[in-house]
Parts: sequence; C-alpha cells; structure tokens
Amino acid sequence: MSSKTYFIRTFGCQMNEHDSERAAGVLESMGYRPVPDPARADLVLFNTCAIRENADNKLYGQLSALKPLKLADPGKTIVVGGCLAQKDQEGLAAKVPWVDVVYGTHNMGSLPRLLAQADSAELPVIEILEHTEMFPSALPARREVRHHAWVSISIGCDNTCTFCIVPSLRGPEKSRRPGDIVTEVRGLAADGVREVTLLGQNVNSYGRDLVRRGEAGEGRRNRTLFAELLHAVGEVDGIDRVRFTSPHPKDFTSDVFAAMRDVPAVCEQLHLPLQSGSDRVLRRMQRSYRSARYLDLVAEARATIPGVAISTDIIVGFPGETEDDFAETLRVTEAAAFDSAFTFEYSRRPGTAAVDLDGHVDPAVVGERYQRLADLTRRLSLAGNEAQVGTVQELLVEGPSKTDPSRVSGRTRTNRLVHVPAGPGVVPGALVRARLTRAAPHWLLGEVEAVLDAPAAPRPEPVLLPVLR
Ligand code: SAH
Ligand code: SF4
Ligand code: F3S
Repeated sequence: MSSKTYFIRTFGCQMNEHDSERAAGVLESMGYRPVPDPARADLVLFNTCAIRENADNKLYGQLSALKPLKLADPGKTIVVGGCLAQKDQEGLAAKVPWVDVVYGTHNMGSLPRLLAQADSAELPVIEILEHTEMFPSALPARREVRHHAWVSISIGCDNTCTFCIVPSLRGPEKSRRPGDIVTEVRGLAADGVREVTLLGQNVNSYGRDLVRRGEAGEGRRNRTLFAELLHAVGEVDGIDRVRFTSPHPKDFTSDVFAAMRDVPAVCEQLHLPLQSGSDRVLRRMQRSYRSARYLDLVAEARATIPGVAISTDIIVGFPGETEDDFAETLRVTEAAAFDSAFTFEYSRRPGTAAVDLDGHVDPAVVGERYQRLADLTRRLSLAGNEAQVGTVQELLVEGPSKTDPSRVSGRTRTNRLVHVPAGPGVVPGALVRARLTRAAPHWLLGEVEAVLDAPAAPRPEPVLLPVLR
C-alpha cells in the first residue's frame, strides 16, 4: 500500500458530489489519504461540470492554476473527471496538457487502472466511454459528512429539455433496483448515517426502465415505484431524514405527496424546478407541463404536507423570452411563494436544441431581468424565514458555522440553515431542538432548547471536498 495523498475539488451538482465521494473511496482503497491543500497532494482530482458556459470557463481557469504545481513537481498526478471531461474529451487534454488522466462520467471504476497506465505513459491517459460500466454506488465511498449520504437511485436522463446538456453527458436514464438501494441505505444506517438524499435527474420517472424490462420486482401496490421507494427507504431503522432531488413537474404524482405526508422520515422539503413561468417558453424548452399545472402541484404540496418548504430552479433569458414571458415568471414565482430559488442566466450550450432557436436575448436585458427576479426571490425567502421566527424546530447539526466560530450550523427538516451557539452535545450529527430567533433571506439564528439525540458513534475527521457551483 502506498502512503500517497490526494485532494479532490468538486464542481457542479449533487451527482458530482456523490461521484467525488466514490472517487475518494476508490483512492482510499488504493492507500491514498486526504489532504486539504492541492499543493501538498500527490494526486489532485478535479471532478468537473459543464452545465453552463461560465462553469466551463471558470474550470479551465482553475485547471490552468494547476500548471505551476505540476511544473514544480512533475511527479504530481493531475486527474480530471466528470462532465466537462465527457464533453471535451481529447480537447481538454489539448488545452491543459499538464493533466495525466482524463476520464468521463461513465467509468469512474477504472480509476486505479488509468492511474497505473499514467505512471508509465508520456502523454495524458484519456478514457471516455459512451455507456456506464457500473453504478458509482457499487464503488467504495469516503463520505464528506459522516451522518449524511447521497444515494443514487438512477443515473442519466430521458428528457429533452432544449437548454440542457446533461442527457448528452450522462446518457439515458438507468434505474437501480429498489432492493439494491434499500440494502445500501441499511448499510449506511449501520455506519452512522441518519440522513439520506436520493438522487436522480428525474426521480419521478424512477423505475420505468425496470418495469419495461420486467425487473421491477413483485408485490407492487397501487403506487409509482418512486413513492414505493420513499416508503421503503423511510422505514429503514436509524434513518431519521430522507430527502430527494430532482422531481420533474410533468411526472409528479399525488402518491409522492402522500408518501411525504405519511412516512415520518421523509422531510417536508420539495425542490421542484420551474425553469420558466411562461407557457410559451416552457413549450420551447420542451418542458411539457404548463404554469397552471405547476401552481396546482405547489398548492397540492402545501395542502398535503403541513409546513413544506418549496425551492426551485429558474432560467432567465431563454431564447425568445419577451418581457411578457418574463412577467409570467415573476407572477408564478410570487404565486408559488418559493422559500428559496436557484436562478440562472440562460447559457448557450453547443449541441443542445436551444442553440438553433431564434430570438437570443441581449445579455444586458438578461442581466436586468435576472436582477429583478433575484430581488423578488430574496424578498420571498426572507418572508418565508421570518414566518419561522418564534417556532421550535428540530435541527440536524452539520458543523462549525462558516461565519461565526462561536456558533454551529444545522438544518431544519425543511432544509433551512440555522446557526446556534456551540454547547455541550451540540456536535455534528446530533439532533437538537432549537427556538428560532432571527431571520435573514438565507439563514436563521436560534437557541438550543434540548439535545434530542447524540450521533451514533464518534465522528472521524471529515475530508474537505469543496463544492463550487
Ligand atoms: N435534472 C434536473 C436539472 C439538472 S441541471 C432537473 O430537471 O431539475 C440544474 C439546473 O441548471 C436546471 O434545473 C436548470 O435550471 C439549470 N440549467 C441547465 N441548463 C442550463 C443552461 N443551458 N443555462 C442556464 N441554466 C441551465
Ligand atoms: Fe436536463 Fe431536463 Fe433532464 Fe433535468 S430533466 S437533466 S433539465 S434534460
Ligand atoms: Fe451535474 Fe454539471 Fe454534470 S450539473 S450532471 S455535473 S453538467
């Protein structure tokens, strides 16, 4: 076994965070140990994202910053994996020739072999596959946070949203078998995990491919496989919280709301990407729901799940978006009263269908609309958090507050970030009861009233895997 060191930086979405934890697990099984500084690491791995153009540009900037490290220490191994590698393939190695290994989204399991090849090769070793060899979940993991785990329920996406590059990078949707998922969650619970987040690009279509192939298993009740899975995962002993992302409004079914209400572990939190409030734009995006259907889902969620917090993703300036279309986005946003929103300026991704649409919007207009939407979502987030002040909530403690060393941070079941004073028992992985005292748009302050439940076992030092969005 070697005693080499590694450093991983993750860009992009939760799937990538999950993949990075697997890559860390693979490296640790090869004898590597983590260090918090790329300059000190024998191996630096960037797990990349290509969702928007500025993500690409920023990444190439960061990859350039590795060049002096490689020049100073030619023995250092530089690895680039993930979506940007899948997209640019040999082009990436041509632009940043100081990389040693480039691998895509489908072959993380090959890392040990690629590293061995790179040891004896002069040129970068590049391996990009078109299909997934194995679910990343089959690989060992090194989790960033001991009490939380990402659990992949499906990979890839069968939708054709015209702005989106993901299907071309992650391939068609492939679901894991429910039994494998539940077995993984049981193992995680035994290892001290108390919160899991189920991951898929479209969790509501989970299992359709299994049904098609007759592999969905026996004993299904009158529920979708995703609702069924929420029940099965929520019933695993030791799992206190279950979250999931992302559902798609077009496939959302009432049995999922019912599961969110009926399964105690499933949290009162819903991330439901809107993308646009204009029906005309939704049609051009090939998002097949309309704003009325979206608002009906929001109303059903609020009526079925008391206290549910709803978040969303919105794109501003999609090709052809007029001032009237944008006014519809503002109207739906206000009506949905989102608790939080991730807002993006539309980014042109070569290879996606939207590139060929007419009416690309002037960047100055996009910027101005973006600001108006950001002002609105900030006001809604503040109102949502202010309504929480005075209430008592269960927090799962995550770790020290990033801004105030005298406090620790935790999340409510609705995924609100709350900072509370550090104190006995208020340690990462603990469940505490806190009274919320002050609100800002993106966080709250609180006072701990009681420690409800200590973490299951002492927690080892975390590995830092910074995530840049
Ligand atoms: N499968 C998830 C989305 C994954 S991408 C879903 O359907 O919800 C995450 C978010 O990035 C999307 O919801 C969208 O809002 C944004 N996004 C994707 N492509 C984009 C583009 N070309 N320009 C701007 N934002 C984009
Ligand atoms: Fe992209 Fe649409 Fe699939 Fe989400 S559902 S990954 S936005 S194509
Ligand atoms: Fe995720 Fe970015 Fe790929 S959002 S799926 S890492 S392009």
